[in-house]
Amino acid sequence: MGLKPLALFVKHDGSSARAAVTCQYKCGNQCSHEVPNSSGGEYFRDIARAALSRRGVLRGTGMAVVAVGAGSLLAACSDDSSTATGGGSSTAGNGTAPAGTGFDAVPPNTDDALTVPAGYEQSVVIRWGDPVLEGAPAFDFDNQTPQAQEMQFGYNNDFAGLLPVEGRPNTFLLVVSHEYSTEPLMFRGYDAENPSLEQFQIALAAHGLSVVQVKGEPGSGRLTPEFGPQNRRITANTEFLVTGPAAGSAFLKTTADPTGTKVVGTLNNCSGGVTPWGTVLSGEENFNQYFGNTDSVTDPAAADRLKRYGFEGGASERLWERFDPRFDIAREPNEVHRFGYVVEVNPWDASSVPVKHTSLGRFKHEAATIYITDDGTVVAYSGDDEKFDYMYKFVSSRKKMDGNGQAAMRHNMTLLDAGTLYVAKFTGTAGDEIDGSGTLPSDGKFDGTGEWIPLLKTGEDGTGESFVDGMSAEEVAVFTRQAGDEVGATKMDRPEDFEPNPKTGKVYVALTNNNKRGTDGNPAADEMNPRNTNKNGQVLELDDDHAGTTFTWNLLLVCGDPQEADTYYGGFDKDAVSPISCPDNVAFDVHGNLWVSTDGNALGANDGLFSVVLDGDRRGETKQFLSVPVGAETCGPIVTEDRVLVSVQHPGELDDATIESPGSHWPGGGDSQPRPAVVAAWNPRGTIGA
Ligand code: FEO
Ligand code: CA
Ligand code: CA
Repeated sequence: MGLKPLALFVKHDGSSARAAVTCQYKCGNQCSHEVPNSSGGEYFRDIARAALSRRGVLRGTGMAVVAVGAGSLLAACSDDSSTATGGGSSTAGNGTAPAGTGFDAVPPNTDDALTVPAGYEQSVVIRWGDPVLEGAPAFDFDNQTPQAQEMQFGYNNDFAGLLPVEGRPNTFLLVVSHEYSTEPLMFRGYDAENPSLEQFQIALAAHGLSVVQVKGEPGSGRLTPEFGPQNRRITANTEFLVTGPAAGSAFLKTTADPTGTKVVGTLNNCSGGVTPWGTVLSGEENFNQYFGNTDSVTDPAAADRLKRYGFEGGASERLWERFDPRFDIAREPNEVHRFGYVVEVNPWDASSVPVKHTSLGRFKHEAATIYITDDGTVVAYSGDDEKFDYMYKFVSSRKKMDGNGQAAMRHNMTLLDAGTLYVAKFTGTAGDEIDGSGTLPSDGKFDGTGEWIPLLKTGEDGTGESFVDGMSAEEVAVFTRQAGDEVGATKMDRPEDFEPNPKTGKVYVALTNNNKRGTDGNPAADEMNPRNTNKNGQVLELDDDHAGTTFTWNLLLVCGDPQEADTYYGGFDKDAVSPISCPDNVAFDVHGNLWVSTDGNALGANDGLFSVVLDGDRRGETKQFLSVPVGAETCGPIVTEDRVLVSVQHPGELDDATIESPGSHWPGGGDSQPRPAVVAAWNPRGTIGA
């Protein structure tokens, strides 16, 4: 039996479900701005693949442009961690359910609660303000200080990684990113025209990442934070080492760092990935929003470069440029070139210096996720989350070293510093059949082929070689979007998280939405992005020659209301699926099922986490496992046999929400302020989905 049809909350005004306040603080109002990519894009459709393989072939084509000790419990964290049984039970879906998906689907809802399947339990692991470092004060909403925030869990948790501690059963390092601050909901009486120095300093400390030791317990998925030796806060004040072709380049030199190799801070850390060598990668995403006075730049080339990354106007939203010249483009024009990278953190050594890998390019990295080929070659996939931007991969020239000693870690942390960066170019098979309506082509699926076009090779000594005509290696590393423009990369509908399936090696990519597709002056639908004014997004399946340069592809899901003709659920009966909209993060369980979390559900219900069957005659069967509270986004999913972890970002972030009248009281309940938090859910009767 499949699922029964599920009730929908369909909004008919065509608007995005994301609140304006989220657009403002999360991504710097990306949606309301002009699309940064005005490049020619598909000019190169007719150029033979072979001709694109080396630098210089584009000349004359007419292209105009261009380990762990004992810890004590964090008492403050256990006071109101809300254990409750699940509320949802709309469907059957068990019995013959594919392995790992035998749970009752949670119905779409608008509750101010985290809802899990009937019979499941849940518990908050850690919340904004909970102590991470020993000596941190208990969270006090009305008396927050920069010093406290530097030692406490940051704001707006996004990525979550769970790394088992060897030799200590049920002990893990939880590594979480803190994407952005939402000042009006953090500070009572916040005046956006006149923020205080202290508010600025708290916001800096609320960004970055947290490393927290957590302890499990037998027969339960609950995780409890501990003070372990690896516990650490990385913030917008932490020093990073720059590696790769842009390290030491003129583009990265500032008054504070004339070497161009040492950057203070990381910003807008969105999703990420745990590497097979035990580190964590994190994507610096909408970094442009933190810098003020773009309009002071008069050099046309510099202005174009800023525009391509979404920089514009005078004052920044948060006005950080008032407090520190590094955020003022008029005073430190190169600081902007020091953000927008994949950062790597060794969570096992709290004194280690984290790295920014410029060999993976600079763009609005959603994340970076790793696939290792049979010979130990590392492939890192990364999407540039902006409408009409690109998909990238990096293929290492070095091989992963086995073992987990210090020598292996030292070597493996250089894997992303030598190799080749590529950008994706897609071809469809349906030709004129794509009309922007989302109607399936006559061959029954959206599919085709593709190639990876080389942009930049980083050699053993860290120096770069450009494959892009007219651009130096340093320019490709720092202005990677323009490099993608030059080679005619394919403009996608907000490419976010990638994840390789550990069972099959196929790679899955969430494309969240693109309401500008097919609108005036913007590219029309194509087979990879088959709907104009795409509000609901799609999930792409790549069969990639990982270390090679070709792939085949198809759309697994074309998301949205299953009752609408423009949606596709892998060929599964659309009357028997949970409606899914705006896919963002992807993960795998041990059975090889795909799990997808959503950001901005355009169908009117809260965001959630969904399982998707990939193989057999139930391919495309999509079931909602949980929903998050009002105003929140579901991030960082981790699905193991013992538990599901999600990062609940921006609960209660609604346009009419204030501190006096909160949009949510989750997770504390009562009249409490909402607090972003990481939650564990588990099946007390067995494994997840059993
Ligand atoms: Fe921070 Fe692309 O989501
Ligand atoms: Ca995301
Ligand atoms: Ca997102």
